[in-house]
Parts: sequence; structure tokens; C-alpha cells
Amino acid sequence: MRRLAAAIATLIVALLALLAVKAPAAPPPGPPIVPTGGERGASTRQLGEELFAANCVRCHGVGGRGIVRSTDPALRGPSLRGVGALAADFYLRTGYMPLADATDQPVRAPPRFAEREIRGIVAYVASLGGGPGVPRPNPGAGSVAEGRELFTEHCAGCHQAVAEGGVMPGAKAPQLKHATPRQIAEAVRIGPYVMPKFSEKDISDAQLNALIAYVQYAKDPRDEGGWGINHLGPFPEGMVAWLLAIPALVLICRAIGKRVPS
Ligand code: HEC
Ligand code: HEC
Repeated sequence: MRRLAAAIATLIVALLALLAVKAPAAPPPGPPIVPTGGERGASTRQLGEELFAANCVRCHGVGGRGIVRSTDPALRGPSLRGVGALAADFYLRTGYMPLADATDQPVRAPPRFAEREIRGIVAYVASLGGGPGVPRPNPGAGSVAEGRELFTEHCAGCHQAVAEGGVMPGAKAPQLKHATPRQIAEAVRIGPYVMPKFSEKDISDAQLNALIAYVQYAKDPRDEGGWGINHLGPFPEGMVAWLLAIPALVLICRAIGKRVPS
């Protein structure tokens, strides 16, 4: 019985070790710097300008002119003149910005600023040189079937299935299940990181509605019986393997333990 207990303990330790091994994430960028003085009476855009100076200028430069040739590759950023409210809204609400290191791929995280602060920075970036406003897609007007075709043609190569995301050389195409309709519309027009951007010639606003309708639909595919674990991604599937393997190993330990009299 002691041997069995030891075997189970070893397995539990192994399982915990397995849980601890996670893909390395980008280093936390630290809390955003929020100016403490003067913002009370300040307009939202002024607040945005101050926040931009404190959190974004070191990579995007004064006035958002961009820093392309810095000696430190971790402190670089493209010009934000003309990217518009659309890009600022996307990058702030997905938590992609502020980055900690310009050489990292931006990854989704909880937004790092409060609502009024986001609106302020968006207004400030929009004031730098026009650019597209925040889109207002209407997925209710789109057909899921048409959207599925568009997704297969334009997106599935990288994003594979909506809930799973995909891997590509040098970058990870994220799952789309956290993206809101507005963020999908924004991502398609911006093409963040290595994703291509799609103009209205490539994908019209009407087609975009269909595409979003499909992504929204595919976030919650109806599982017909069974556990439907194939929609949860590799980690829970691995867990299921372990949950099946542990009892099996325990049984084997027990059988071995019985055969060798002690
Ligand atoms: C060449 C590969 C590629 C193609 C094609 C592509 N994407 Fe992407 N997509 C990416 C990568 C990589 C990211 C992550 C960007 C980043 O980290 O800054 C991304 C990010 C996104 C995001 C943000 C998701 C999030 O929550 O972080 C959305 C939404 C999105 N893509 C939708 C689409 C749609 C819709 C299409 C088809 C019209 C498409 N993508 C085509 C590679 C691609
Ligand atoms: C450590 C450097 C760094 C910091 C700090 C940073 N950025 Fe960025 N930013 C980048 C890099 C690099 C990219 C290009 C990433 C990409 O292609 O997805 C980028 C892209 C962007 C874009 C998209 C530009 C486009 O062409 O569509 C926006 C908008 C943006 N950043 C806003 C901000 C804001 C607002 C802040 C401050 C809250 C900020 N960034 C802080 C490095 C930084």
C-alpha cells in the first residue's frame, strides 16, 4: 500500500510539473503611467496627449512621428500619423499596446487603460493626421454561409479554425474567440503585425459583415454529443490524456506491486 501511495504521489508531482510548464509569455510591460496632476479639468483629448507622452512616445516618438532608427531595437515604433482612431482603438482595447519590447509580437491582454483614458488616447492619435474612424460593423446584416466562404478564402490559412488559432513561421495567429465584431472589423482593415491588411476592394463592408457573422457563429459551434474537447485546444486535450493515463498507471503500479512480495 505504501508503494501505491508513493506511486500516486510521484504522478501527482509529475502532473503539477506539467501544469507549471507554460509557453513563455511576453514580459509584463508594468503598470501604465497615468499622469496625476492637471487631468481633472483637462479635456479627454488632453488627457490622451499626456498619457501618450508618458506611455507611447518612447517608441512612437514625439507627436507620433515614429522612431524607426533607434540604437535600441526594443524601443522602436511606426509613425501613427494617419493610422486614425481605428488603429488606436484596436491596439488599446486588445491590450496589444503599450508593448514592453518593440521586437515582441503584440499579444491580447486586458486593456491597460480605463475607458476615458482609452478614449483620450484614441482622440489624440486621431488628431495626429486624420485616418479612418472607429468602424461600426453590422454582422446582423451578413450571411454566415457567405462569411464561411470568405473566411476559408482569406483567413483560414493562418487562423485555421476560429477557436483554435494557428501557427505560422515567426508569429502566432491568435484564436479569434475573444475578438469583438468591432475588433474583427478593425483587424481586417489594419492587418496587425504580420497579418495582411484588406482594403474595401479586397473585402467590402458588406462582405465584412458576413465574415464577422461567421466568426461570431463559429465561436460557439454546436457540439453534437460527446465532450467536444476538440474545440478547447491542445491544453485541455492533454489534460484528458493525463486523466485517463493516471488511473491506468496506478493500476499498473498496483499489479507490479502485487507480483513482487515484500
Ligand atoms: C498571414 C496570416 C494571417 C492572415 C491571412 C489573417 N490573419 Fe488575422 N492575425 C494574424 C496574426 C499573426 C495576428 C496577431 C497580430 C498581432 O499579434 O499583432 C492576427 C490577428 C487577428 C485578429 C486579432 C485577434 C486577437 O484577439 O488578438 C483578428 C480579429 C484577426 N486577425 C482576424 C482575421 C481575419 C478576419 C482574417 C481574414 C480576413 C485574417 N485575420 C487573416 C495572421 C493572419
Ligand atoms: C516598446 C515600444 C512601444 C510602445 C511603448 C508602444 N508601442 Fe505602439 N507599436 C510598437 C510597434 C513595434 C508597433 C508595430 C506592431 C505591429 O505591427 O503590430 C506598434 C504599433 C502601434 C499601432 C498600430 C500602427 C499601425 O500602423 O497600424 C498603434 C495604433 C500603436 N502602436 C499605439 C500605441 C500607443 C497608443 C501606445 C501607448 C499607450 C504604444 N503604441 C506604445 C511599439 C510600441
